[in-house]
Amino acid sequence: MSNFAENIINLSNITKCFGSEVALNSVNISVKKGEIFTVLGKNGAGKTTLIKIICTLLLPDKGSGTVLGYDLLKEDKKIRANVSLVAPTVDVGVDPVLTVYENLMFWAVVYGLEGYEAEKRVKETLKILGLYEVRDRWAMEISAGMRQKLGIGRAILVRHPILFLDEPTVKLDVESKFTIRNFIKDVRERFGTTILLTTHYYDEAEELSDRIMIIDKGNVLAVDTLQSLKAKLSSAETIYIKAEASNEQVKSIFSMFSRFMPQYKNGIFIFKVPIFTDGMEEILKVFVEKHINIVEISGKSPSLEEIFFFVVDARYKKNEKL
Ligand SMILES: Nc1ncnc2c1ncn2[C@@H]1O[C@H](COP(=O)(O)OP(=O)(O)O)[C@@H](O)[C@H]1O
Ligand SMILES: [Mg+2]
Repeated sequence: MSNFAENIINLSNITKCFGSEVALNSVNISVKKGEIFTVLGKNGAGKTTLIKIICTLLLPDKGSGTVLGYDLLKEDKKIRANVSLVAPTVDVGVDPVLTVYENLMFWAVVYGLEGYEAEKRVKETLKILGLYEVRDRWAMEISAGMRQKLGIGRAILVRHPILFLDEPTVKLDVESKFTIRNFIKDVRERFGTTILLTTHYYDEAEELSDRIMIIDKGNVLAVDTLQSLKAKLSSAETIYIKAEASNEQVKSIFSMFSRFMPQYKNGIFIFKVPIFTDGMEEILKVFVEKHINIVEISGKSPSLEEIFFFVVDARYKKNEKL
C-alpha cells in the first residue's frame, strides 16, 4: 500500500505474449490519483491488452502491480469491485429494447442500489449525462453518441474511483466525439475519478490528458505531459514574422540569427526556434532595435501527431527506447 496516495495504479515489468507475439513488453506504469492518463498507440499496439490486465480480466505472463493498493495477481476480486470499464464497441452493456431510464435502473440494481436510492441515483446520473430528456426513449432510438454516454453512465452510477475507457470515441461522429470528450473532463471534475483511457486519436490525447504514454508494438516509448513531450522530443517551433524590411535589414537579421535557420519569402521571415527558449523574444527585440515594422506574427507548435511519429520513427532508426 506504500504508494497508494500518490499512485493509484502501479505496474512493474508487465509482459504479455500471445503465442510468439509480444503484445506487451515489460511495461511500467504509475498513474496518479485523479489524473487522466492516456495510452496512445496505433491499432495492435497493445492498448486493450494493457487495460484488460489492469482490470484483472487477463493475467500477465510476467511482472507485478497494484491497483488501489491491491495486488494485481492476488486480489483480482477487490480490484474488479472498484473499477469500471467501458469497452470500445459502442452499445456494450446497453440493452436496445429497454428505455434509457430502464437501462440505468437495471445496472443500478446489479450494483446493489435499491428502491428510492436507485431511482434517485439514476435520475441524477441521467441529468449529468444530459440524457434526462430522452429517458423514456428506447436505447436503440437514441444517437450513437448518446448510447456511448449511456455506456459511460453505467460506469459512473456507482462512482468507482477508477474508470477505464478503451477508445471511448471510436466510430463516433465529430459532434459526438466533442460531447464525449467534454463529458470525460466533466466526470473527472465532479467526482475526482482517475481515468485511464486509450486512443489512437492524437487530438483526443492532446485535449484530455494530464499525461500521455506512447506505446508501439507493446513497447512504451515515452510517458509524460504533452508539454514535456513537446519540449523533450521535438526540437523547434516555426515562427512566422511578416515585416517590412530592406535588403540590408534582411541580411543583417540572417547573419544574427543564422542558428534559427532564417528564411525570407514574400515579406515573411521564417525561423525555427527551439521551443521553451526565449529565442522569439530575442528576435523581436532586434526587430524593434532596427526599426523593422512588424505587421503580423504567428507560430506553429509541433502537433502530438508529429511527436508521435518522431518517437516511433526514432525507435526504429535507433532501435532503442527514448
Ligand atoms: N486474445 C488474443 N489472442 C491472440 N492475439 C491477441 C489477443 N489479444 C490481442 N492480441 C494481439 O496482441 C496485440 C495487441 O492487441 P491489442 O491489445 O488489442 O491492441 P490495441 O488495443 O492497441 O489495438 C495485437 O497484435 C493483437 O493481434
Ligand atoms: Mg484495442
